[in-house]
Amino acid sequence: MHARVIAVANQKGGVGKTVTSLNLAACLAARGRRVLLIDLDPQGHCGVGLGIDTETLTRTSYELLVDRNATAAELAVALPWEPLQTLRFVPANLQLSLAERELEQRYALPNLALAGKLKAARKDFDDILIDCPPALSKLTLNAFLSCDCVIIPVGVGFFSIHGVRMLAETLKDIFEETGLDYDVRCLITRYRTGQTVSREVRKAADELFGDFCFATVIRECADVEKSIGSQTPLQVWAPQSPAAQDYRALTDELLESLGNKVPRAVSADTTPPAREASAPVAPVAGAVELAGPAGAGAGHDA
Ligand SMILES: Nc1ncnc2c1ncn2[C@@H]1O[C@H](COP(=O)(O)OP(=O)(O)O)[C@@H](O)[C@H]1O
Ligand SMILES: [Mg+2]
Repeated sequence: MHARVIAVANQKGGVGKTVTSLNLAACLAARGRRVLLIDLDPQGHCGVGLGIDTETLTRTSYELLVDRNATAAELAVALPWEPLQTLRFVPANLQLSLAERELEQRYALPNLALAGKLKAARKDFDDILIDCPPALSKLTLNAFLSCDCVIIPVGVGFFSIHGVRMLAETLKDIFEETGLDYDVRCLITRYRTGQTVSREVRKAADELFGDFCFATVIRECADVEKSIGSQTPLQVWAPQSPAAQDYRALTDELLESLGNKVPRAVSADTTPPAREASAPVAPVAGAVELAGPAGAGAGHDA
């Protein structure tokens, strides 16, 4: 088995990258899949959300990146929850902020350090998830150049859509410069049913990403913040909460499309209204192209 590597990325903070990374990782592990979750954000929020005292750690994702001899399997820790036995986690702390400079000093190809490390780890896991920092930094580039799929959580608010256009442009540049071709999916988070701005953001995301938006949206739910406060994944802390249900639905949707570059058709209520019915299903890189100047403007007039 060869793991699929998923980077959860958006240069905007507060859009649900960490919540998505750790809860998706937990949902996949709850199904018996061998999951490796890597925190690539020096803020270390993933570890905080999983009850780890990140400040005292001496071996973290910093070593994974800069120490040529460190392996993901050796750095990964197990977590205490019985249903999540197959989850392993490489935490981060502030030391990771030093990695960018050191990567430059130690590696001829500093953006490929993580990709080299994950080559070996792919054999040991079914899924590898990377929680990216809120920046289009060298750390995020390392994640992009390691992964098969990028999930872009989009929070509710018009700045969110604006930021996603920028990110989509960066991904398009990476595709063009490297010839890489991977799955890019947009995930609406903090969705409030009946709220106008939520509907507008969903519409704009559909126009920008077309079928490459997950049909599942993650609802705004107070239990998310509470589960983080109690340092326990939502699936363990409040498995019946709306957001926990949504993350399970997202897991279903992701697993259904495993190995399938062209996602299934989105459900009727998420079909982009502006899209022509006869438009061909674009390959993923094409979806990113939609985010270019031709796609710009969607949602901003609303
Ligand atoms: N579905 C949700 N419902 C309610 N609060 C949420 C939801 N998703 C995220 N949050 C809250 O939003 C904040 C930012 O989420 P986080 O995952 O840390 O964002 P990022 O990693 O993109 O910076 C956190 O306080 C988190 O509890
Ligand atoms: Mg985060």
